[in-house]
Amino acid sequence: MKVSEALATRMSCRAFLPTPVPESTVREILDAARQTPSGGNLQPWQVCALTGHPLRDLLARVKSKVPLHPRGEPPEYDIYPPALWEPYRSRRFKCGEDLYATIGVKREDKLGRLLQFARNYEFFGAPVGLLFFLDRRLGPPQWSDIGMYMQSVMLLAREHGLDTCAQEAWSVWHRTVGEFLRLPPELLLFAGMALGYRDESAPVNRLRTDRAPLDEFAELRGF
Ligand SMILES: Cc1cc2nc3c(=O)[nH]c(=O)nc-3n(C[C@H](O)[C@H](O)[C@H](O)COP(=O)(O)O)c2cc1C
Repeated sequence: MKVSEALATRMSCRAFLPTPVPESTVREILDAARQTPSGGNLQPWQVCALTGHPLRDLLARVKSKVPLHPRGEPPEYDIYPPALWEPYRSRRFKCGEDLYATIGVKREDKLGRLLQFARNYEFFGAPVGLLFFLDRRLGPPQWSDIGMYMQSVMLLAREHGLDTCAQEAWSVWHRTVGEFLRLPPELLLFAGMALGYRDESAPVNRLRTDRAPLDEFAELRGF
């Protein structure tokens, strides 16, 4: 598979088949992604892959906490700035509207939206859940490095016929995840990622997001 093909066919997959992913495949993907560059070659990423019992136990633990903390635990970082401005506000809004439209959930249907959002905390039914961490003392450049590592994982997954969904939503369960995995206190949970085989028949997977044209954000000079 060409890189361009992996890029073009990657999409956020939000419904998976129960087909297990072999440990060797997960290992191969995480291992190949080590080639990701990072400033100063710090390689600040830390990742934990869960499947089977450990995955089910974590999901059950999170589920048991929802009645007490419906919005999760006090966040460690803001996923978005408090009041988004244009063009980001409209892009975020459209992304949400288009997602809920695929499953016929209307704007007023708060419960329907909540139920779909809650699927984040089941890794959308994926057989593998990945959790990405970095040392909380690191700064924005290292956050960007971990994002690049995640992109490598997402593209390599395509090469194996697998799909993914990056999930910042997991960051609101940082305490529960930390306790469950017995993480050292310096590790911060940046995001989760669902990994598995795409359920082609699921309406939610029909969503194809658009992108602003090149000329809106790029300038080429001196060519
Ligand atoms: C770092 C990161 C975190 C994300 N977090 C979530 C999430 O918590 N839940 C979700 O459903 N999608 C999440 N997404 C998916 C984005 O909404 C998606 O990438 C974007 O709308 C573009 O669509 P595409 O991935 O299908 O091309 C995340 C994506 C990234 C890169």
